[in-house]
Amino acid sequence: MELMEAIKGRRSIGRVKADPIPRETIEQILEAGNWAPSHHATEPWRFIVMTGGGRDVLAQAYGDIAAEQAEVSDEAAMAELKAKHGAKAYRSPVVIAVAVKPSDNPRVVRIEEFAAAHAAVQNMLLMAHALGLGAIWRSGEPLYHARMKEALGLEENEWPVGLVYAGVPDMPAPAGRRRRAADKTVWLDGTDSNK
Ligand SMILES: Cc1cc2nc3c(=O)[nH]c(=O)nc-3n(C[C@H](O)[C@H](O)[C@H](O)COP(=O)(O)O)c2cc1C
Repeated sequence: MELMEAIKGRRSIGRVKADPIPRETIEQILEAGNWAPSHHATEPWRFIVMTGGGRDVLAQAYGDIAAEQAEVSDEAAMAELKAKHGAKAYRSPVVIAVAVKPSDNPRVVRIEEFAAAHAAVQNMLLMAHALGLGAIWRSGEPLYHARMKEALGLEENEWPVGLVYAGVPDMPAPAGRRRRAADKTVWLDGTDSNK
């Protein structure tokens, strides 16, 4: 696949089939993430791959976080709420949590560690697309909740930056749309042609 074709053709695909994804395919996605750039070559990204029953930890975290924030005292209603939010973990056969573990090297700028982990996510989305899979980068408030960190087994100095849901597409790719790059660009080329 041509690079520009892959970049422009990749869409967030939120609806995928339940068919399991072969481990080698998942490893290709991880490999793509692992080749992201990082300042000082810190490679600060971490991957937590959840498949099958491995997604239960995510489901429990979604459920617990929703329960904590809900004003429901009734036990049955609470169970229903947890099940509803927990079901989000099973929207795709594989969910890869991407986390960042910022380097403690004093020369490293912390925000750049997050930038590198975000770049890893984009590499992964592009690889999934090139492999014919549908994928979406999901976040949302629960991702940044302490309970999520615990569920994903992250260390104190590790932070989730995204959840990559991937599987065989079960929806047509929506049309992509972007505002023109030229409208977001200033050229400083030493001439006054922009005046
Ligand atoms: C940091 C980040 C977080 C995102 N979180 C969500 C999310 O929680 N739910 C969702 O449906 N899409 C999420 N997206 C996907 C965007 O909605 C999507 O990229 C955007 O609408 C453009 O569509 P495209 O990816 O098909 O080009 C996220 C994207 C980024 C970069």
